[in-house]
Amino acid sequence: MQKVAIYPGSFDPVTNGHIDIVKRGLKLFDKIIVAILHNPSKKSFFSVKERMEMLRESLKESGNTEIDTFQGLLVDYALLRKAHAILRGIRALSDFEYEFEMALMNRRLNREIQTVFLMTDLKWIFTSSSIIKEAARFGGDISDMVPPVVNRRIKEKFGFIT
Ligand code: PNS
Repeated sequence: MQKVAIYPGSFDPVTNGHIDIVKRGLKLFDKIIVAILHNPSKKSFFSVKERMEMLRESLKESGNTEIDTFQGLLVDYALLRKAHAILRGIRALSDFEYEFEMALMNRRLNREIQTVFLMTDLKWIFTSSSIIKEAARFGGDISDMVPPVVNRRIKEKFGFIT
């Protein structure tokens, strides 16, 4: 039986840190479904469609991955996709409380689905989607923190290139 993991998140936008987690996750799982939470009540920078396109382009050479979206409870989606695990990356200690709370709630909701955490590579410890947007907004160079497609799309969005 194939071991499938869901890697959920906002991915607004995808960073090199996310890509690193997918690549390392593929050493543990046969397939990773990268699932973007579609939350109409939360304002995002990139649309779901744009986020999917960037993920697709960034992961096109990364083995058995699929990009999808989900709404509602993550554990329900995991069940629907016949996944055995939820994959999440942890950077600093500050991520821990939020992740721990979420993992415990997911476990309460469905004990069959395991949350697996991978520590981020030291290189990406300060890389987050929000800090990247903040730097890019004022013309900061983020090219070594995101896939090339994201670097281009973010510059377009802020009007630095047309
Ligand atoms: O990249 P993010 O924003 O930290 O990802 C958060 C995400 C999408 C993993 C989380 O908000 C989520 O799973 N939302 C779906 C609703 C749900 O099942 N929440 C967890 C149990 S309360």
